[in-house]
Amino acid sequence: MKNCNEVKKVLISAQEIQIKVEDLAKNVTRDYAGKRPLVVGVLKGAWIFLADLLRKAELDLDVDFICVSSYGNRTYSSGKVDVLKDLTMECRGRDVLLVEDIIDSGITLSHIKELLFFHGAKSVEIAALLSKPSRRKVSIDVKYLGFEIPDEFVVGYGMDYQERFRTLKDICILNEEVYKR
Ligand code: PRP
Repeated sequence: MKNCNEVKKVLISAQEIQIKVEDLAKNVTRDYAGKRPLVVGVLKGAWIFLADLLRKAELDLDVDFICVSSYGNRTYSSGKVDVLKDLTMECRGRDVLLVEDIIDSGITLSHIKELLFFHGAKSVEIAALLSKPSRRKVSIDVKYLGFEIPDEFVVGYGMDYQERFRTLKDICILNEEVYKR
């Protein structure tokens, strides 16, 4: 699937991603040393970023996942966030690090953050690989950010279009024809 012919352009290469993730992991390691954070991955998109980030971080930590959906099969947010799978671990009193692949409107993360504080989290910080600042509808403070990108629909490194392309190693932009099918 490396150079699949449905890809128009590689926006961020696998190598650039790994360098950035290494850098983010160093900062996370420094900030959470001695704290044993609860790291929460936002499924599905964040699974590859989370796995790489945490294997590069040198920390005692717990991992849990939450699965929400606001996009369905569309390329834009519906503005409504459904919790499809909740946390299995108690977040009360914990320092939580939320790991997300991409922030677009910011609605998903602001909703999850609110939920975590409602359930008693002591602190909630965000690690996101990508951000599209031009699409923001609610303001979100991202402590660990990989890349700011333009308003293009991207796939790969965990991100999908209709559940395809998540395992592409690079972050890519697809040919327009793919969306017409
Ligand atoms: C994507 C992404 C974020 C969300 C960001 O999830 O993984 O969770 O959209 O958008 P927002 O900032 O506008 O809320 P999606 O609903 O596509 O599900 P997925 O992670 O399962 O691919």
